[in-house]
Amino acid sequence: MGGIIEARREQAERLRGYFEVQLRFAEVIAARTSRALSETCLEFTNLHRRFGLGRAEVGAPSAGWARYAAGLEDREAGRLDWTVGFFAQSAPEASGGPRFGCFSYELEEAGEVVRIHFSNRDSDDGVGPLARAKIDRRRSELAEMFRHVRAHHPAARTVKGGSWLYNLEAYRRLFPPHYGASAFEPERVRLDGTSSWGQLLDFREAVKPNLRQALLDNMAGMDIAAPWRAFPMRALGARASIEPFHQFYGR
Ligand SMILES: CC(C)(COP(=O)(O)OP(=O)(O)OC[C@H]1O[C@@H](n2cnc3c(N)ncnc32)[C@H](O)[C@@H]1OP(=O)(O)O)[C@@H](O)C(=O)NCCC(=O)NCCS
Repeated sequence: MGGIIEARREQAERLRGYFEVQLRFAEVIAARTSRALSETCLEFTNLHRRFGLGRAEVGAPSAGWARYAAGLEDREAGRLDWTVGFFAQSAPEASGGPRFGCFSYELEEAGEVVRIHFSNRDSDDGVGPLARAKIDRRRSELAEMFRHVRAHHPAARTVKGGSWLYNLEAYRRLFPPHYGASAFEPERVRLDGTSSWGQLLDFREAVKPNLRQALLDNMAGMDIAAPWRAFPMRALGARASIEPFHQFYGR
């Protein structure tokens, strides 16, 4: 138990830079729109999820969020410390379904669509999960996941995802080519998850300084109606039929 609490505290410190840039982003939007900071944090940062509170719903915040928001609004200075401390004492995010290494999925559209999620669970050997040397590991995780989907969700016809990661050849090469080729720019991008924010992190959960700087530079002249455009890389959507996945990974 003590070990788990300590590990969470260490992770909170590792993520300090990630929280710092998210708070600044929400502060800029709050100042430009005269909205409360806790409101812009709910809509334009992934803090609600990182605190283990699930998907953020504007207008109906959870009790846990209300406590965080009150602490945030109470202080000018010390907001970052409050955020790091709040994360340290919060429960880890619940994973929705089964995990396959770095991958998981959720079913959408009456079970016909499989949405892919990626989070880093492999920093072995001092390299990130998308390193060339780890392609086989990632593909075998995906092979296992698609075998599972085939066995348990025979109605699934389509695979989809939405992430900055679709900009990277290092990510697209893990999938059958038709899927990477389907990548498109969505009309709107939510900022309450990781689909844009994730690009700021390296595999050790430290902020990449050049990407942070690029975001801060763009923030100054940000289009409030489309704040996701301030990110150096746009989150892309991908959507393609499932059959080539089964062929690609071997049935
Ligand atoms: C994904 C993640 C592990 C990448 O971190 P990293 O330290 O760059 O890790 P890796 O070394 O494994 O990946 C690097 C690969 O991607 C490429 N890459 C990463 N960031 C890049 C960038 N900003 N521009 C161009 N290429 C980039 C690298 O060139 C490398 O590819 P290569 O091996 O072909 O050279 C990290 O950003 C992360 O954990 N993010 C949070 C999770 C997330 O974003 N999930 C998406 C949810 S929708």
